[in-house]
Amino acid sequence: MGKVVLGVTVGVAVAVCAVAALVVGRRVRSRKKWKRVVGVLKELEESCETTVGRLRQVVDAMAVEMHAGLASEGGSKLKMLLTFVDNLPSGSEKGIFYALDLGGTNFRVLRVELGGQRSELDPDVEQQPIPEQLMTGRSEDLFDFIASSLHRFVEKGNDSVQSSIMKELGFTFSFPVKQTSVSSGVLIKWTKAFAIKDMVGKEVAGALQQALDRKGLNMRVAVLVNDTVGTLALGHYHDADTVAAVIIGTGTNACYWERTDAIIKCQGLLTTSGGMVVNMEWGNFWSSHLPRTSYDIDLDAESPNPNDQGFEKMISGMYLGDIVRRVILRMSEESDVFGPVSSRLYVPFALRTPAMAAMHEDDSPELTKVAKILEDVLDISGVPLKVRKLVVKICDVVTRRAARLAAAGIVGILKKIGRDGSGGITGGRSRSDIKMRRTAVAVEGSLYTQYTMFREYLHEALHEILGEDIARHVVINVTEDGSGTGAALLAASHSSSGSVDNIQLV
Ligand code: BGC
Repeated sequence: MGKVVLGVTVGVAVAVCAVAALVVGRRVRSRKKWKRVVGVLKELEESCETTVGRLRQVVDAMAVEMHAGLASEGGSKLKMLLTFVDNLPSGSEKGIFYALDLGGTNFRVLRVELGGQRSELDPDVEQQPIPEQLMTGRSEDLFDFIASSLHRFVEKGNDSVQSSIMKELGFTFSFPVKQTSVSSGVLIKWTKAFAIKDMVGKEVAGALQQALDRKGLNMRVAVLVNDTVGTLALGHYHDADTVAAVIIGTGTNACYWERTDAIIKCQGLLTTSGGMVVNMEWGNFWSSHLPRTSYDIDLDAESPNPNDQGFEKMISGMYLGDIVRRVILRMSEESDVFGPVSSRLYVPFALRTPAMAAMHEDDSPELTKVAKILEDVLDISGVPLKVRKLVVKICDVVTRRAARLAAAGIVGILKKIGRDGSGGITGGRSRSDIKMRRTAVAVEGSLYTQYTMFREYLHEALHEILGEDIARHVVINVTEDGSGTGAALLAASHSSSGSVDNIQLV
C-alpha cells in the first residue's frame, strides 16, 4: 500500500515537474520571440531616426539640390521645372472658369464664378474615383473619360455645352511635365499609380484639347498646371505672403516663387514680374542624409519605378501603409506573435495609409480599431493587446519620420529663398541680424489635412528646426481644393481676354 502511495506521489510529482517545465519552456520561448519582435522594432526606430541634426542636414541638402537643379538641366534629381506662371491671381479676375484636376486617386471637375473682388470662392465641385484600368490603359481612353465627366458636369449646370461663347479651362495635371508655355508641355514620366505608356513624351494639354473637341465642348485649355502650382495660386489669392505650396497626399511635391535670375539654366528668361513659379518635383529628391531602412529599399526595388521618387516613397500616402505592412510581415516571419503568417501580408499595398492612420489614432483603451483593421484588412485575428500596441508604435515611427522629413523639405525651400532666418544658403549673417518677414506656405493633401498625428509631427519638427523665434513668422495655410480652384484662377489670370491686372510677388 505504502509503495503504491509512494509510486503515485512520485508519478504526480514527475507530472507536475513536466508540466512546470513545459510552461516555463513555453514562457522562455515566447519571451525570446517577443524579444525578437522588440528587436525588429528597435532596429526600425534606429534606422528611422530623425534628430534635429539630421533634419538640418536634409534642409541643407534640399537647398543645395535646388541650386543644382536650377543651374543646369539634369544637374540634380530635383527637376526644378519651369511653369511659365510668372504672375499669380490678383483678385481682380472676373468671369466663369472651369478646372479639371487629375493626379491622385480622385478626379475633380470644378466651375468657379469670379466676381472681380478678392472674395471667398465657392466653386461647384464634383469628385469621382478614377477607374483603375484607366490609370494603366491607353491615353485616349483616359482623356475621353475626363472629357465625358466634364461634359456631364457642364450639362448639369447653368452653362450650355455647345455655347457659342468659348469657356476657358485650367487643367491640373499632377505629374512631372516639361512645360513649353503656360498652356502646353510634355509628360516626362508617370508617378504614383499611373502608368500609361503611350503618353510619356506627349503633349498633355493637346491630348485633353482633342478629347474636348471630340466631345463637342466649346472650351480652351488656358493653363496646364501642376497641383502644387494651383495650390500656390489659391494660397496667394487668400494670403499675399504665400511663397511656396506643398502637397502631401497620394504623392508629394512642392513649388515656390523664384527670381528669374536665379534660374541659371534658362538664361535670358524675362518676365514682367521678374520671377516665376518653379515646380520642384521634390518627390524625386535624394540625399545620403535621408534615414533609409531595409523596408524602403525593398519597397523601391519592387515598385514599378525603382530608383525614382525616393523622397515621395518615404513620405506620401501611397507608400506609408505599405512600409508598415512590410514591418509587420517581417515580425510575423520572425516570431508567431501575430499567429501563423497571414497570406494577406504578402500582398503589396494590402494595407492602405488611411487604415494605417486609423490604427495609429485609435484611442480606445483596448485598441479595438487596431484589432478590427488587422482582422479585416490583413486577416490577422486574436492578437493580444501588447501586440496591438506594437502595431501602433510601428505606425508612429513610420509617420513621424515622414512628417519630419516633409518639414525639413519645407525649411529647405525657405533656406533657398532666404526665409529661414539663416541668411540663405550662403549664410554669413547671424540670426539676430536678420529681420524675418512673415512667410506663408500653402499646404494641401489628405495626409496633412486628415491625419492629425502627421500634421502635429510636421509642425513640431518645423519649430525644432527653425527655432521658436523664426518659426513664429512662418505660417502654414491649408487651402481647400486649391489644386483645382487655383487652376481656374490661373485660367482667369491667363485668359485670352487678358483683361486682368497681374501682381508681382517680390
Ligand atoms: C508628382 C507631382 C505631384 C505630386 C502630388 C507626385 O507624384 O510627381 O507632380 O505634384 O505627386 O500630387
